[in-house]
This record gives sequence, structure tokens and C-alpha cells, in this order.
Amino acid sequence: MIAVLDEAHAPDAKPRPAVDLRDVSKVYANGRQALAEVDLTIPAGDFVFLVGPSGAGKSTLIRLLLRDELPTTGLIRVGSYEVSAMRSRDVPRLRRHIGTVFQDFKLLPRKTVRENVAFALEVTGSPRRLVSTAVDRVLELVGLTAQAEQRPAQLSGGEQQRTAIARAMVHQPRVFIADEPTGNLDPLISWEIIRLLLHINDLGTTVLMATHNAEVVTALRKRVVALDEGRVVRDAVGGYHGSH
Ligand SMILES: Nc1ncnc2c1ncn2[C@@H]1O[C@H](COP(=O)(O)OP(=O)(O)O)[C@@H](O)[C@H]1O
Ligand SMILES: [Mg+2]
Repeated sequence: MIAVLDEAHAPDAKPRPAVDLRDVSKVYANGRQALAEVDLTIPAGDFVFLVGPSGAGKSTLIRLLLRDELPTTGLIRVGSYEVSAMRSRDVPRLRRHIGTVFQDFKLLPRKTVRENVAFALEVTGSPRRLVSTAVDRVLELVGLTAQAEQRPAQLSGGEQQRTAIARAMVHQPRVFIADEPTGNLDPLISWEIIRLLLHINDLGTTVLMATHNAEVVTALRKRVVALDEGRVVRDAVGGYHGSH
């Protein structure tokens, strides 16, 4: 019998994790150590909260995943991307593999909702016909079809964040990273955003969300990774142990 086994069919093959950090440390140029010996594996399809007090290293960890910063030591993989060792010319592909949103929505004020989302695709050279179909699809996903022709100033904070989420999802990323996405939103609107991220996760996207929102973290029985002074101090399902 001749068996041809590729990696995916080998009996001992494990599925590739969505995110993998091995012994990652980050010391900024000013000598500040933001992360220390962080090991973190996020299986594909998971929903993970990243918590911890201000200055714990949450945003630094996210910047390393996006290759906005390089680790001082350690290995970082996102899907098949060796983030800590990749060539700069491959970085745009990594950034399309990861959708990101932040506390501030970073929308272009003169463009409509539709144009803000379309712009993300146009800059990567997508054909016009594909752009309009993809934009319609993500606007429906985030529930903004009716607001498509409005400008950011005409939107509520929650709608602005949903526009940012649509823009981040338009490349159909495998991983979605949100750094304090509800930091500027009131509790009710925050829940709407969380429900949207849970829905995106249900559709198969791995989600990593950094947050101070203890109410949300406690209410949802999801994996919670807690950082303190750059170290992982807790990694368990449920509960919020941030001190601020
Ligand atoms: N660009 C930078 N240069 C120097 N120190 C930084 C820089 N960015 C963050 N830090 C420091 O690194 C630590 C972690 O910051 P950060 O990752 O922003 O934490 P968090 O997002 O959990 O609040 C803090 O002490 C912060 O002051
Ligand atoms: Mg931060």
C-alpha cells in the first residue's frame, strides 16, 4: 500500500493555531520592559479576552501581532505568518490576515460609511465590481446598510465603531483583534459591539479582545488571559482579575 500523507492528513498533525507567542519579551528603546517571557497559544476559532491594568502590556502584545513593533526576544506566529521573522514586503499580507479595531475609530471624516469601508479594499487594488459586493456584505454584517451614505460625524459612537469593524472585516480576515473597542462607548452600546464580535467569532474568525470592561468579561464565559507588568498572571475561563 502506498500512502501519501501531506501535513494536513498526517495522523499526528495538529491544526495550526491562529496565534502563537513563545517566550516573547519586549523592551522598548527607552529601557521600559512591556512584556516578559509571554507564552500564549490561541487555537483557531477561539474568542479570548486580554485583560490587565493600564500599562500591563496589552497594546504592546497587539502591536507585536500586527508587526507594528518587533519583539526583543521570542517567536511570534499568526496563522502561517512568522511575524517575528518576516520580510517587510510580506507585512501587508499579514495585515489583511488580521482585522483590527481600536478605542478611537480612526475613520476618514470626509468619506461616507460606504467610502470608508471601500477605501480599505481600493488601496489594495481590488476591482471596483468586487469592492461594491464586498462592502455591501460587511455593511449588512454590522447592521449599517441604512447608514451607508452618512459621514462619521452623523453617526453615534456605536455606529462609528461598527463602521470600523466593517472596514476591518472587508478583507475577510482569519483573526480579528480589538484593542479596547468599547473604551469610548456607554455600557448598552458596548454590549452591542460585543454581540457583534461574538457573531463574527461564530462565523469562524478567531477573536482577541483587549478590554477593561469587567462586566462584559465576567458575564461571558470565555477564555481570559490576564497580563500584569508584562507577564501572563492568569489564563482561565471566565472572571476578571484586573485591578483597575
Ligand atoms: N512606544 C513606547 N515606548 C516606550 N514605552 C512604551 C511604549 N508603548 C508602551 N510603553 C510602555 O510599555 C508598558 C505597557 O504599555 P501598553 O502595552 O500600552 O499597556 P496596556 O495596553 O496594557 O495599557 C507601559 O509601561 C508603557 O508605558
Ligand atoms: Mg492599551
